[in-house]
Amino acid sequence: MSIRHLTPLDRMLSDTQRALETVFGAPAAERPNPARGEAEVVMEDDERRHAAGLMRINHVGEVCAQALYCGQAAVARDASTREHLLHAAQEETDHLAWCADRLRELDSRPSLLNPVWYASSYAIGALAGLRGDGWNLGFVVETERQVEAHIDEHLESLPPADGRSRAILQVMKADEARHADNAEAAGARILPPPIPTVMAAASKLMKAIAYRF
Ligand SMILES: [Fe+2]
Ligand SMILES: [Fe+2]
Repeated sequence: MSIRHLTPLDRMLSDTQRALETVFGAPAAERPNPARGEAEVVMEDDERRHAAGLMRINHVGEVCAQALYCGQAAVARDASTREHLLHAAQEETDHLAWCADRLRELDSRPSLLNPVWYASSYAIGALAGLRGDGWNLGFVVETERQVEAHIDEHLESLPPADGRSRAILQVMKADEARHADNAEAAGARILPPPIPTVMAAASKLMKAIAYRF
């Protein structure tokens, strides 16, 4: 999506529409759901609840990714950085839609706190972006690497029978790794301490809350 010719007001309206769609709507995926080839296997109630808790965390992660990238794009100085961020956000929409599909299949729901997750991530993204485009891309690399690591944990922790969630997470993991590589190639700078540690602590808190709420 190119917004190079949009005015600041157009951008604000487009950001607001995107936020509302992400939090309250049902954004559609462009690619087919990776779970389509996996049979639904009946799981015990506690396994199903655990799988839903993990997929709710992943769904929140994608809500945060949308918000971070839109917040960063809103203040990006360079048009190519903005394009890069908005293109990454577009790919995250597939992840968002697949996680929402899986939550429905598990008879569960997205996090009740999604408006809070979105607003806080947008603000963090915009603050990071104000430091400059190298920082902006560095923030993308750190976010994607941390998401990749927590997807690995979830692949270990999912009930063995939940092939459908696992298929979704495997494609997401490959995408997140590519997003990080692309941002590195585009000129990301390495974030200094304690930023990566603070980001990991915030993400740990989010995961603990989103597992249940
Ligand atoms: Fe993602
Ligand atoms: Fe990503």
